Amino acid sequence: MEQLHIDLKDHSYDILIGGGLLQEAGALICSLRPKARAVVLTDDTVLRLYGDSLSQSLAEAGISAAFFSIPSGESSKSMDQLEKLLNFMAAHRLTRSDLLIAFGGGVVGDLGGFAAASYMRGIDFIQIPTTLLAQVDSSVGGKTAVNLDSGKNLAGAFWQPRLVIADTSVLSTLSRREFAGGMAEVIKYGCIFDRDFFAFLENCPDRSALMAYMPYIIRTCCDLKRIVVEEDERDTGHRMMLNFGHTFGHAIETIGSYQRYIHGEAVALGMILAVAYGSLAGVTPGDFADPLARLCRRFGLPVTCDIRPTELVKHMTIDKKADGTTLRLILLSQPGRAFIQTVTLEELTTAMKQLDHIWGN
Ligand SMILES: NC(=O)c1ccc[n+]([C@@H]2O[C@H](COP(=O)([O-])OP(=O)(O)OC[C@H]3O[C@@H](n4cnc5c(N)ncnc54)[C@H](O)[C@@H]3O)[C@@H](O)[C@H]2O)c1
Ligand SMILES: [Zn+2]
Repeated sequence: MEQLHIDLKDHSYDILIGGGLLQEAGALICSLRPKARAVVLTDDTVLRLYGDSLSQSLAEAGISAAFFSIPSGESSKSMDQLEKLLNFMAAHRLTRSDLLIAFGGGVVGDLGGFAAASYMRGIDFIQIPTTLLAQVDSSVGGKTAVNLDSGKNLAGAFWQPRLVIADTSVLSTLSRREFAGGMAEVIKYGCIFDRDFFAFLENCPDRSALMAYMPYIIRTCCDLKRIVVEEDERDTGHRMMLNFGHTFGHAIETIGSYQRYIHGEAVALGMILAVAYGSLAGVTPGDFADPLARLCRRFGLPVTCDIRPTELVKHMTIDKKADGTTLRLILLSQPGRAFIQTVTLEELTTAMKQLDHIWGN
């Protein structure tokens, strides 16, 4: 088992990573909070696949738990589900000394975290992330949220879990597309912080080779995220590096109405565009474009897109990272090293015109 400690003073917690940890979840939670009762938030897919395992593990440890399941998918990250969940917690008479367990992907983690932050002005919660994206990204860092009609993640809170239990064996049932989506974030960490880790990924020929190293991969990603989160818990500075590929990516997701490209696919395309932009601006070595595209393609991520860069710029003006006529892009000075560059929309538009045929269309 791999273990990582996130040091946030009163909000510090451990991340435990390993194959088969689900069976030990009850004992681990019990040693942290011996007498607590719990509500487990999950989604229909995870409940069907792994509900019995977790339920058994909690029962064996003597933890009384009630399961609340939401339909799988982003549309459940809503105020409507939040209210239903809070009422469920109240109906089960959860007190401030009890627990919410978020057992699922990023949707469950974000919704569960926000419910824990708001129920009785805040109760403890535990993350048991079950997607690759949730294990390397959303379960670390304490950002919780639901979507509003007016936009994604518009209502939320910073609320740190008390413990994260990442069982890598559950990743084997992820669809090809969901696995690839998580890989975009894994590749991102290599690009922005760790060239050796990028090279390690280049040496893994396929998904099954990766699976053999999954605890190491997840630990490395969480450790890299830990460094920026410890330094910048509230996301006002250094943590912005994690947005590499995301400013372009969000525009791609929005134009595609979140259907054409899932988040990780859009991030992969965004990273490719950010490298192309950096290389055009003379700040990123141009010869990094090929290795990046090769790695994305190998793990099932798209490397061409049907949305032209000039079309993207129009949408980026409404991105939350846009500030008047300038916006902050995360670029690479070299593989494994990122920096923030402020660019004007005019500069960006000019560059995007030059990159308009990057996708070969
Ligand atoms: N809080 C943060 O810092 C942060 C960071 C990144 C993303 N997010 C959020 O995370 C969400 C996306 O997370 P996600 O990609 O995990 O999506 P998700 O939670 O919707 O899960 C994706 C799909 O995989 C299924 N699934 C989950 N675990 C499975 C398993 N082990 N086997 C088979 N299927 C499984 C789910 O039922 C779902 O259909 C978005 O809402 C995004 O905004 C939050
Ligand atoms: Zn992301």
